[in-house]
Amino acid sequence: MLITRPRGTNDILPGEVEKWQFLEQLTGQVCREYGYGEIRTPIFEHTELFSRGVGETTDIVEKEMYTFTDRGDRSITLRPEGTASTVRAYVENKLYALPQPVKVYYAGPMFRYDRPQAGRYRQFHQFGVEVFGSNDPAIDAEVIAMAMDIYQRIGLKNLELHLNSVGCPACRPVLRQRLQEYFKPHLENLCLNCQGRYERNPLRILDCKSEKCQGFGKDAPTTLDVLCPDCADHFAAVKGYLDEVGVSYTVNNRLVRGLDYYTRTAFEIMTQDIGAQSSIGGGGRYNGLIEECGGPATPGIGFALGLERILLTAERQGIVFPIARGPQVFIAIAGGGVAKKAFGLLQSLRQQGIAAEQDFLGRSLKAQMKYAGKLAARLVIILGEEEYNRGVAVVRDMQAGEQQEVALGDLVGFIQERR
Ligand code: HAM
Repeated sequence: MLITRPRGTNDILPGEVEKWQFLEQLTGQVCREYGYGEIRTPIFEHTELFSRGVGETTDIVEKEMYTFTDRGDRSITLRPEGTASTVRAYVENKLYALPQPVKVYYAGPMFRYDRPQAGRYRQFHQFGVEVFGSNDPAIDAEVIAMAMDIYQRIGLKNLELHLNSVGCPACRPVLRQRLQEYFKPHLENLCLNCQGRYERNPLRILDCKSEKCQGFGKDAPTTLDVLCPDCADHFAAVKGYLDEVGVSYTVNNRLVRGLDYYTRTAFEIMTQDIGAQSSIGGGGRYNGLIEECGGPATPGIGFALGLERILLTAERQGIVFPIARGPQVFIAIAGGGVAKKAFGLLQSLRQQGIAAEQDFLGRSLKAQMKYAGKLAARLVIILGEEEYNRGVAVVRDMQAGEQQEVALGDLVGFIQERR
């Protein structure tokens, strides 16, 4: 029986993978410019990291984690996101002893047991950044502006940046109380999940995916109604910095985000072009998370972009990536007598940094030319016995449709001139 890939996962094939490589290169370049260094953490962690870090009442922890017991009887979880792992690494490796802020970025697969549909997968990929050790609102603006810069360099259009402040431990109890008062008359009509959240974390009710709960939450009090003076000042300063660099945003006081660790700034980037899964990135500040994970009290902020959703948006918007296709050179073998010489030439071209290919199926010369066209080779070296004995080969420029004899000793120079 045919074995297929697990539901919600994707194979990224040659032809498609070049777009991923382009994104990796572009994000790496942007990170260098903004002063971020790469960090690589394990794909799985102790389950407790996420239940404590992401939050017990979130959808992610309540229903979406890939959790299993390993052979040593430990509860292990495939990472559903990158922030908790990065925070753990910051604390465990004592990066707080370095000059602050510490700015890191990561990219890789994340795992959530969600219902798969276009733009929503069980294994998906994020590119993300985290900054530790600064409470300066300018860092909030840098992180947001950096995300927008990346989208812009990819060429994405029609994006909306939603911005909110979700307050801090000083404003939260007030909101909690107001939310409980507001939802009390509707309590029995909320979904079972939200009935539980009412006591544990009523803010989560605003993030419920059920239409019924969303309806009841329409006029609920919001974080912006209860911000303490420090949070209000911080939010105003973040907006000021964003205005300064021309990043436009919509203040959205309903934006809650799906993770519990946020304090103050929260943001999400949406597009209408990819259907229901409209969030192509999001992030925010998490000033309590480092302490929660056993580190010294340290502020933090970051974002993560969903790479599948970026590629889907790019496709829907007709964006073509600048991707080099095909080998520089194809060596066509005209007669079995030169097969070994052709193979030698192929190897030597590659060793000199020239992408080269040949036929390995014993095709006729005509079929080799057709194959070279399919590979999108720019030049074809036609190596015949008679020419080889004269010390030359015929080189055909596939685009111009012109060909000429070139001395074997001059081949590399000839090819390099036409790169
Ligand atoms: P998040 O909003 O859960 O935030 O995920 C960030 C992005 O990952 C989303 O905007 C979306 O583009 C993509 N994404 C999420 N789930 C899926 C899925 N099932 N399939 C495809 N793409 C998906 C975080 O993960 C936070 N760690 C971001 C952060 C970093 N906050 C502070 N620092």
